[in-house]
Amino acid sequence: MSKTVLLIVVLSLRSPAVEALDNGLALKPTMGWLHWERFMCNTDCDTDPDNCISERLYMQMADVMVKEGWKEAGYEYVCIDDCWPSLQRDAQGRLQADPKRFPGGIKKLADYVHSKGLKLGIYADVGEKTCAGYPGSQGYYETDAQTFADWDVDLLKFDGCNLKWTLIGEGYIKMSKALNKTGRSILYSCEWPLYEWPFQKPNYTAIRETCNHWRNFNDVFDSWSSVKSILEWTASHQDIVVPSAGPGGWNDPDMLVIGNFGLSHDQQESQMALWAIMAAPLLMSNDLRDICPRSKELLQNRRIIDISQDPLGKQGYRSAKGNSFEVWERPLSKNRLAVAVLNQQEIGGPRRFAVSDVPGWKFCEPQCNVTLILPQYKEMGVQTKESKLILYVNPSGTALLTVTPISKDIRRLHWKKHTS
Ligand code: GLA
Repeated sequence: MSKTVLLIVVLSLRSPAVEALDNGLALKPTMGWLHWERFMCNTDCDTDPDNCISERLYMQMADVMVKEGWKEAGYEYVCIDDCWPSLQRDAQGRLQADPKRFPGGIKKLADYVHSKGLKLGIYADVGEKTCAGYPGSQGYYETDAQTFADWDVDLLKFDGCNLKWTLIGEGYIKMSKALNKTGRSILYSCEWPLYEWPFQKPNYTAIRETCNHWRNFNDVFDSWSSVKSILEWTASHQDIVVPSAGPGGWNDPDMLVIGNFGLSHDQQESQMALWAIMAAPLLMSNDLRDICPRSKELLQNRRIIDISQDPLGKQGYRSAKGNSFEVWERPLSKNRLAVAVLNQQEIGGPRRFAVSDVPGWKFCEPQCNVTLILPQYKEMGVQTKESKLILYVNPSGTALLTVTPISKDIRRLHWKKHTS
């Protein structure tokens, strides 16, 4: 990429200027599984018992998460989305699970998930009805928060359908307070800004004080065009959204669709790499009971997960764009940097990219260690600012690497060791 076509975006690397929701949760981006993108509102347990929204589905996912290394890799929350409740509240006005599909009820399911060392997430909506038409929480915020706490639920995804937009912020804040009042630690996942953007610029200071993560943009679909549109939205709003992310509160670009039908392997690598760069919650929506080994390996890649979960807790951003490449960077702890180079060209073969054209390459002064993580792990050794490091990136694929500066002091130490 020629330097003249680089569009360099300088973002402040300050810590979030705003306070996070003070519930001690989501100090790192949430990791887990969420049913929506893959299983949607399939309630037909008579003809499709393996894929319908029922307690069995979550119990099976929890079993696999423990057996197949997902829990060990850090995936912790098993999350229910829309279409779990009965269409009627009970005589006390409480939400109840559909009795046919959840015969044991949610409390029993939570006990089961906890017995596996995992956590259970549930779904509700700030308005009169959920997006799929099940009972909403409007007028019942305290009742529903208490019900979820009584069931020992650990996370609430709170959707924003069917409420006048001027009441959205107030509704999300009320539910946040209601959850807090229960005394149980319940991670609070919001969609507040998504429902406010069509009308006005959301107040990210208030959102960060209220929620542990928040959806900004459209639902992810199982397609590259969907993943691309999410990346483009995030990059074009990064000056607004990146500073609001940090320990306790994160921008949520929606679920990982890796392991499904719509993405090529290179595109799956792009989603995984960029979600880690964006410090996004890693909530997979796929069928863990039947997943291709390459997708599994990618989702469990410890080096990528380490970038996602980096303790510095800063969200990355797109730092350059040109010649059909995008460069994204994320500052990491210990002065390290993660760099993702996305080849946007969807024709041809692998394209050559010179790493010295990366804006953050100045980090490599006077020397740095480079580790390639995607498309395959490779130690690239010690480099300098002048190194001509070349990568080849597949169409709609991503090269992911980390850059670790070697400080003068460390070099001196090494030198002393070798000379004494
Ligand atoms: C909205 C949300 C999705 C999902 C569905 C459920 O579209 O954005 O993530 O929860 O509702 O109906």
